[in-house]
Amino acid sequence: MALKMMLLVYLLILLCRNDVVDAIIGINWGRTSAQRIVPSQVVDLLLQNGISAARIYTSQPDIIRAFHGSGIDLTVSSFNTLGFNTVDAAKVWVQEKFVPFADTIRNIYVGSFVFLENKDAVFDSMMNIHNALQDFGLSKIKVNMPQSHLMLKPNLTRPSDGEFVDEIKDVFDRLFRYLEENNTPLVMEIIPLKFIIEYNYDLSFGFADNKSTNVITDINGFVYTNVIEFLYDSFVWALKKAGHPNLKLVIGQVGWPTDGYPGANTSMAERFYKTLLPFVMSNKGTPMRPGAPIDTYIHCLQDENRMMFRDPYSRHWGIYRGNGEPKFKIDLSGQGRDIFPTRTKGIMRMPDRWCVFNGLNKNRPKVMKQFEKACNQSDCTSLYTGGSCSHLDFVGNVSYAFNMHFQFNFQDEDTCDFEGMGRVVTTNPSNGSCLFRVDVVRGEQNQYLPTAAVLLNKCKLHEVPKCAILLFLLSTFLALL
Ligand SMILES: *[C@@H]1O[C@H](CO)[C@@H](O)[C@H](O)[C@H]1NC(C)=O
Ligand SMILES: *[C@@H]1O[C@H](CO)[C@@H](O)[C@H](O)[C@H]1NC(C)=O
Ligand SMILES: *[C@@H]1O[C@H](CO)[C@@H](O)[C@H](O)[C@H]1NC(C)=O
Ligand SMILES: *[C@@H]1O[C@H](CO)[C@@H](O)[C@H](O)[C@H]1NC(C)=O
Ligand SMILES: *[C@@H]1O[C@H](CO)[C@@H](O)[C@H](O)[C@H]1NC(C)=O
Ligand SMILES: *[C@@H]1O[C@H](CO)[C@@H](O)[C@H](O)[C@H]1NC(C)=O
Repeated sequence: MALKMMLLVYLLILLCRNDVVDAIIGINWGRTSAQRIVPSQVVDLLLQNGISAARIYTSQPDIIRAFHGSGIDLTVSSFNTLGFNTVDAAKVWVQEKFVPFADTIRNIYVGSFVFLENKDAVFDSMMNIHNALQDFGLSKIKVNMPQSHLMLKPNLTRPSDGEFVDEIKDVFDRLFRYLEENNTPLVMEIIPLKFIIEYNYDLSFGFADNKSTNVITDINGFVYTNVIEFLYDSFVWALKKAGHPNLKLVIGQVGWPTDGYPGANTSMAERFYKTLLPFVMSNKGTPMRPGAPIDTYIHCLQDENRMMFRDPYSRHWGIYRGNGEPKFKIDLSGQGRDIFPTRTKGIMRMPDRWCVFNGLNKNRPKVMKQFEKACNQSDCTSLYTGGSCSHLDFVGNVSYAFNMHFQFNFQDEDTCDFEGMGRVVTTNPSNGSCLFRVDVVRGEQNQYLPTAAVLLNKCKLHEVPKCAILLFLLSTFLALL
């Protein structure tokens, strides 16, 4: 009897062990916004939604500390890609930032898309960080460098066209060998909407529900009906041609924006995740890699309304608004249930007050000047074609801009003056799909520094010409988001 019992327990243990590795759904949290959920609330939110992995775009200690002990695997980032030109420089950084939080951190991502310029120097920095981690016995923290479809030769017609651009072949070979030796996957970032626009596909190609009007058949007969499998397999082909056919791939960034462009809205985002996440959890894999689990990081938790942009939708990636409310239904467990994620707890809204244009000044150029000023210092991307507020008339436009500026400044009445053209009201001026926001109270906002500013400071310490290149690359990177 006891023996049988023991056997049973043993069997149960075997069954419960995660020998079959399931795909992970993680979330990225960028903080380039005027209003931000505080780190402890974010950790709480992720735990409530059963999220086991997250990526942040910083290595700020207060944020890492909030994740420490939560059980959530954290990926941190450094955009100071040339700052670690010696192992000693890397050691100082690793000791200060990561040694105290070693159990929490899984990955360090160095740069992003900065591979085209200074590629060897960036790779050397990464190796220095790797060596520093080894010195501290932290070999379980993996260093990596995310890549996008821009690293593939342009004008893909089918996945088998996938091939890495020539300029990076040498350094990619070093990178891939390094990743293989360290049992680390290549991280690919996908921006479905951007790819679809660039390649003139139908929007339906964005969704993993097999309803696309674009159906692509590859030379081997494999059929593609969505951008995720298409790009994933394009990478698989490129890896094959580069001589690394078995290197694992994870999707480090993928999402659908909800505003600022035709087709960027909450119902499309809902459909996107409702089809993508169950696909991820099915471990179905792609035609080129059937059955391969595809770890996938959703981009992203919260809107980033201070993000530099080329595409206006790039400020609207969030599952949550700046005030912590979910925008649409999404089942983060990947079961495809029709549910909202949990709301952020403990958020305090400012009072119901808005700033609008009083309509008195009829001098259009003067009004335009205030409109532009308000937009420059806040976020008017919802007014763009296809945006949720693109139906507003001129007066509506100006009011929208004034209110955004007012909310960005935490309802400071001085910021609703606009040379006498602004007025604070207590009736909600929202119009149809266009929400006039009331934002959250000023919480822990003081450490706000956009990534570019951080980089700029760093650049000043190094050579100036490289700084220009880095800033250019950074802005390209940010515009892609
Ligand atoms: C890719 O396509 C674009 C326009 O569709 C064209 O301008 C460009 O020359 C093509 N590039 C290559 C490498 O074929
Ligand atoms: C996708 O749809 C086509 C018909 O449009 C069908 O032949 C195919 O089996 C479907 N694939 C899956 C995986 O459901
Ligand atoms: C979202 O965009 C799609 C595609 O452009 C459109 O068909 C749909 O009506 C939009 N939904 C909303 C609620 O605006
Ligand atoms: C707003 O920013 C743009 C671009 O940076 C600039 O050209 C314009 O002069 C600014 N307008 C105002 C009113 O500040
Ligand atoms: C509100 O929306 C309606 C319908 O689209 C539009 O006619 C009207 O001009 C809008 N009001 C303002 C102030 O923009
Ligand atoms: C409102 O502002 C947007 C963004 O600047 C602009 O594209 C649009 O034409 C404006 N609409 C009106 C009626 O002025």
